[in-house]
Amino acid sequence: MPGTILVTGGAGYIGSHTCVRLLERGFEVVVADDLSNSSAAAVDAIARLTGCQPSFEQVDLTDIEALGGVFERHAIEAVIHFAGLKAVGESVAEPLRYYRTNLLSTFNLLDLMARHEVFDLVFSSSATVYGDPEQLPIPEGAATGPTNPYGRTKLMIEDICRDVAAADPRWRISLLRYFNPVGAHPSGDLGEDPRGVPNNLVPFVMQVAVGRRDQLRVFGADWDTPDGSGVRDYIHVLDLAEGHLAALEHIDAGCDVFNLGTGVGASVFDVIKTTENVSGKAVSYEVVDRRPGDIATSLADPSKAIRDLEWRADRSLEVMLADAWRWQSRHPNGFDS
Ligand code: UFG
Repeated sequence: MPGTILVTGGAGYIGSHTCVRLLERGFEVVVADDLSNSSAAAVDAIARLTGCQPSFEQVDLTDIEALGGVFERHAIEAVIHFAGLKAVGESVAEPLRYYRTNLLSTFNLLDLMARHEVFDLVFSSSATVYGDPEQLPIPEGAATGPTNPYGRTKLMIEDICRDVAAADPRWRISLLRYFNPVGAHPSGDLGEDPRGVPNNLVPFVMQVAVGRRDQLRVFGADWDTPDGSGVRDYIHVLDLAEGHLAALEHIDAGCDVFNLGTGVGASVFDVIKTTENVSGKAVSYEVVDRRPGDIATSLADPSKAIRDLEWRADRSLEVMLADAWRWQSRHPNGFDS
């Protein structure tokens, strides 16, 4: 199976961990990343951790000439497409930028893949396509209805992939709907390094624990959940990375969709308590109003991936947060420290 895989967004959080697993499995890796929300230091970390050097191409995927050069220079056999803008709030404020960047990147990529007869694609989708779910846990067949432009770009790209695969039987596409990826490589030398104030819970909690920020704001303790705070299906980023290898290894003709989650929920207060346990640091918080657009609970039904991809996410919340803490405490200011 091993061959050359193009990983768009391979310097980012999930992309970089997937590159580690691909290289360890014997694949050649070409990272295409514009570094707009990632760091070249992640590519160096991938090389150090694996002893293998991925090729690195700094390109903007909306530039088809530049991306075409990547296909000219490398004998690519399959693509994992992570690259994209991903901040929910920003997408509400700047919808055109989100639609233009995420959709144009994908059009360019699909065009070039067809032109170079590369038909295997694994795409980073998101549980956000389910919106406020009508059933829990959420199976892949549940109704979709994203509630923000970011989520709509994910669903639009899924639809485009389904149409492309229906039109030409050579395509083999796997759409992966991630739940809430957290954690870091156990070495503590590769992890999530958000720019500015983190939007997501775990990076924020880690920055409070390490002393970079004073206090977490808990967005509502009056949800219809066991302790009143929001419940999510957190998944270790290395379990997620391994899910991509499984998707690649089990890829089939057509276009199929899989939830990647654990099926186990954790609340905001569970995350705070577990972080305090694994770090030995206090996490100060105050309960504030709900965040617009949030939902009470998001939980995957991961049974399809377990069955068809022979993959299961089994790292616990303790392991996720202990690994995130190792990364945060060794690199309090991310890759720059
Ligand atoms: N939360 C807080 N305080 C914070 C940040 C988050 O209380 O400072 C709470 C949220 O209200 C929610 C939980 O922590 O209950 C998780 O919030 P995240 O922002 O970490 O994650 P979301 O589930 O809101 O969103 C994530 C990704 C999105 C993706 C979505 C899919 O960030 O990109 O999962 O379900 F679309």
